[in-house]
Amino acid sequence: MSEIKSDFTFSKKYDKEFSQRYARSRKQKPSRRFANFWEIQMARKALRLAGNPRSILDLPCGTGRFWAMLAEEPTRELMAGDSSLPMMEMARASHAERIADRFHCLHTDALHIDLPSKVVDSILCMRLMHHIHDPATRLAIYREFARVSRCSVCVSLRVDGNFSAWRRARRHTRKGKPGVNRNVIAAAQAEQELSAAGLRIIGKVDLLRYYSMWRTYVLRVD
Ligand SMILES: C[S@@+](CC[C@H](N)C(=O)[O-])C[C@H]1O[C@@H](n2cnc3c(N)ncnc32)[C@H](O)[C@@H]1O
Repeated sequence: MSEIKSDFTFSKKYDKEFSQRYARSRKQKPSRRFANFWEIQMARKALRLAGNPRSILDLPCGTGRFWAMLAEEPTRELMAGDSSLPMMEMARASHAERIADRFHCLHTDALHIDLPSKVVDSILCMRLMHHIHDPATRLAIYREFARVSRCSVCVSLRVDGNFSAWRRARRHTRKGKPGVNRNVIAAAQAEQELSAAGLRIIGKVDLLRYYSMWRTYVLRVD
């Protein structure tokens, strides 16, 4: 693991103040509420394609945007992990006890998940990987997911091949900064990295096909 170049400086911004802002903005701003609704739909559909797993690790859970949806299955075993304690505390505080108490929470890093191998049926990983710009680090995280999950992994990424990615790239080029848009990955490269980690693509769920950059890959652990 020592050769992995960590570019996790972004992780440090998730303090108490950020967690409050994050939770508030998702609830108050109409555009965010709209995006939130569709992202939850995307995750729900991805999990359906994954075969409605009986046990799920939500990693990173952030402020628990997916908790109510994940808890819709009354017998599902639920775990949630994040490297930020304030984000996890906000997740617990902003949900009713009947939902929050369903989750076993874990303070952990996606690169070294503090769990034994093959401990859950599936991992849901939303809005993490677009922050990770180093391909070797992405690969190491995908391998860690393949170690911890028995059956499937659902990962959201920002990919190219849609209107939003094209518009972003054009803006950057106009500003004289081509190639600076590091949060978007070529779909072909993403798929090659996932398969290199032993994750087989069984489905792709786009937030808004041809328009949005967000895509959730549904992956089988081979
Ligand atoms: C944009 S939030 C997304 C959270 C949630 N999945 C969602 O979509 O609302 C990113 C989260 O990743 C967490 N995070 C950052 N680096 C991490 C790491 N190395 N391991 C685990 N979680 C990390 C942050 O603390 C933050 O809660």
